Amino acid sequence: MPSRNRETWERPPDLPGTHFVDAMAYSDPELFEEEKQRILARAWRFGCHDSELPDPFDFRTIDHAEVPLVMIRGEDGKVRTFYNVCSHRGAKLFNDLSGNARTKTCFFHHWTFDWRGDCVSRPRPQPYEALHLEAEDCGLKEVATDSQYGLIFFNLDDDAGSLTNYLGDALSAFEQTLTEEPVEVFHYHQAEIQANWKQWVESNMDHYHEWMHVMLRRTNVITEETLFHRKAELHSGGHITFRGMEIDYEHEGTIAPREQSKAMPGLTAETFQATPLFPNTVLMTRGTVMRIDTTTPLTPDTSLVEFRGLGLKDDTEEDRMVRIRQHNEFWGPMSHNLPEDLFAAEQCAAGYRSGGAAYGIICREENLSAQDDGGMRHFYAEWSKWMGRSASDPKIITA
Ligand code: FES
Ligand SMILES: [Fe+2]
Repeated sequence: MPSRNRETWERPPDLPGTHFVDAMAYSDPELFEEEKQRILARAWRFGCHDSELPDPFDFRTIDHAEVPLVMIRGEDGKVRTFYNVCSHRGAKLFNDLSGNARTKTCFFHHWTFDWRGDCVSRPRPQPYEALHLEAEDCGLKEVATDSQYGLIFFNLDDDAGSLTNYLGDALSAFEQTLTEEPVEVFHYHQAEIQANWKQWVESNMDHYHEWMHVMLRRTNVITEETLFHRKAELHSGGHITFRGMEIDYEHEGTIAPREQSKAMPGLTAETFQATPLFPNTVLMTRGTVMRIDTTTPLTPDTSLVEFRGLGLKDDTEEDRMVRIRQHNEFWGPMSHNLPEDLFAAEQCAAGYRSGGAAYGIICREENLSAQDDGGMRHFYAEWSKWMGRSASDPKIITA
């Protein structure tokens, strides 16, 4: 293959528009603002898992969803989401990541709110009487909240359709794992990366990069047979499931084989399967543990990725230690695979930012098996629908 001159380098690839992405989609500030309005403010997004709010009055704050949010389990067992902003004059209400609070008093003028978001007291309320500002006019703003299989989602759009319609059958591959026995989050960490949010989302759909792990660390051991057992199922709504592939830990050499007795429900200890949910969440398993990532855009060039590890709630202490070890060896902050993945996303982002690359190629076709790029194409087809622009030429408005 000859190298290219400036003109041939900048010319769009001779491919269908569904099979490449303009670098502008990763870095343009106006497109980024549009993504926030048109996708992130209207889509159902994962907030936390049921097990992170086990008791009444437990709360969990979400700081990176354009507005600060707080999820609270009520006395009635239901989880509600509110703007984490005082309705008096805008002070932030909850400052901790998580905790338990029957009521919450704002630090500024001491208005107090309960788990329904109702304002239940205001110090010296008499001066409000002249203009009839009653406590019932002073509640918090509630945000749509719903859950499926213990995964709790929120939606900033008051007119959003139901979560059930949004997800369709996308979680079917994980239904048994998430519901047959109680599951709980045992690991949480964050990474702030110098990459556009979609570049992290892509890394969980781009299986061609598996060779990076194989070559760098001799991990992620795949055989030709299991590679071709993997199939991408394209769900409506831009969600995808990759399943059918097993990891050959026995031949890896530096990682202990996995015991079938530790497999989570519905899986073998070698199962490698993932479900990216549009727009920014992925569920993944390596048989004995599960991982959930949520990617939140901070700026066009920076993103926050939150990683959760999940095991069985009724694990013995010994089983939990095994699960923690097996989670951390691939997916912990100092693991085999995760730092390589983060590095790769940042390297691609730097390349596009430099102006050195004009397009990303996502045209591998293998009947949606093995290392087909169909998952990324499915994501960008959905992105294009929500944005009214195609990812291969986002300057043009298509809808
Ligand atoms: S801003 Fe919260 S009570 Fe005044
Ligand atoms: Fe990877």
